[in-house]
Amino acid sequence: MSIWTPSSWREKPILQQPTYPNQEELAKVLEELKNYPPLVFAGEARTLKNHLAKVANGEAFLLQGGDCAESFSEFHATNIRDTFKVLMQMAVVMTYAGGVPVVKVGRMAGQFAKPRSSDTETIDGVTLDSYRGDIINGSEFTQEARLPDPNRMVKAYNQSAATQNLLRAFASGGFADLHQVHQWNLDFAQQCEVSKKYEKMAEQIQTSLKFMEACGVNSKTYRTLRETDFYTSHEALLLPYEEAFTRKDSMTGEWYDTSAHMLWIGDRTRQLDGAHVEYLSGVNNPIGLKAGPSMEADDLIRLCNKLNPTNEAGRLNIIVRMGADKVGDDKTGMQRLLRAVKSEGLNIVWSCDPMHGNTIKSSNNFKTRPVDAVLKEMKQFFQIHKAEGTNAGGVHLEMTGKNVTECLGGSFVVTEQDLSSRYHTHCDPRLNANQALELAFLIADSLKEAQR
Ligand code: PEP
Ligand code: CO
Repeated sequence: MSIWTPSSWREKPILQQPTYPNQEELAKVLEELKNYPPLVFAGEARTLKNHLAKVANGEAFLLQGGDCAESFSEFHATNIRDTFKVLMQMAVVMTYAGGVPVVKVGRMAGQFAKPRSSDTETIDGVTLDSYRGDIINGSEFTQEARLPDPNRMVKAYNQSAATQNLLRAFASGGFADLHQVHQWNLDFAQQCEVSKKYEKMAEQIQTSLKFMEACGVNSKTYRTLRETDFYTSHEALLLPYEEAFTRKDSMTGEWYDTSAHMLWIGDRTRQLDGAHVEYLSGVNNPIGLKAGPSMEADDLIRLCNKLNPTNEAGRLNIIVRMGADKVGDDKTGMQRLLRAVKSEGLNIVWSCDPMHGNTIKSSNNFKTRPVDAVLKEMKQFFQIHKAEGTNAGGVHLEMTGKNVTECLGGSFVVTEQDLSSRYHTHCDPRLNANQALELAFLIADSLKEAQR
């Protein structure tokens, strides 16, 4: 048997990587990154794992969300704050109306590298390398921009550090205090039906807080009212970068990927003998594994055994992303995966990514997602778990606090004609604040239902 090291992935076949034109420059940047401070502490990753073990047991719910791809151009405190606000809103809806604690994980502070369906892109007869995310190359359609540049990794690290710093400040500096529940509602969202529903719930929470205050329970005495735990995550796609942040924890002697609390493997890079599975099998963070319609049940079991050989609860999150029309199919949908995992007695956090299986082209040529399909896949995810006696553990979303028009429908309807007005994503279409909140209410109802 071969021995795992932070670089043993280099011996395995690897997909979805850039070819850097200057290897010397690449090596220099990676040496530099190896000396940079970690973005997270191993103890935090262990705490998250403990929270996720509760999710696996049906005692908590995982909310994971943020941009499809963070970008250098959209790096702004307002964007970070507004995405954080919407995640807080969603979490409070699920906790208050759904009755379970919520584990909050951002697709933030490092979500830069993107797998692509094709290595090249052709426009008007001109073929260039595909855009692979700001940590690798630029999105502009020029030869210069599309050339992979290792120095982008340094910029991505710095942006991740600044983002992480602000997230930590929001989580513990008073912004996440439950007494702020009204302030989390975004100005632009307020005329909308779902936003009114949120306001009503916020009133009820305020009333409960006043009652608790009278009983001596307040933000000063209870940390959980004043602060929240907020974790970071991204797809561990660009392995040279992840390797540079792989550090041995001085307390346990175990390896951790310190570029984020949680890392996941994408649906395109989950080959059992491939480099990405090899790399993540050896770090002790909680990890995710995307499972699309092409995932076979026996492959899934082999992957689980490789990624979580000790069957540790909270270690492995399977993120199912089938699509609304496929997830419920008896032969090809999610049921066969749940049954296989259950019959092996594996401890798994099951979450639903209702985004990536529901991407379509609008008639006016925008890559979009119908909110109806997103809600439908989520609903079926709960129903199938209920029928199988397994725990519907979480949701994995592409969303933003900005008032974008990227996904169709929702309670404040976005039409095909609206798509062009505020379509800002650097990659896949994201839910806007109202659409995300609508989904949170659906999840809360399903959680309540599941407890009955
Ligand atoms: C993603 O999460 O942005 C992504 C590319 O997903 P998947 O690997 O499931 O296609
Ligand atoms: Co995406």
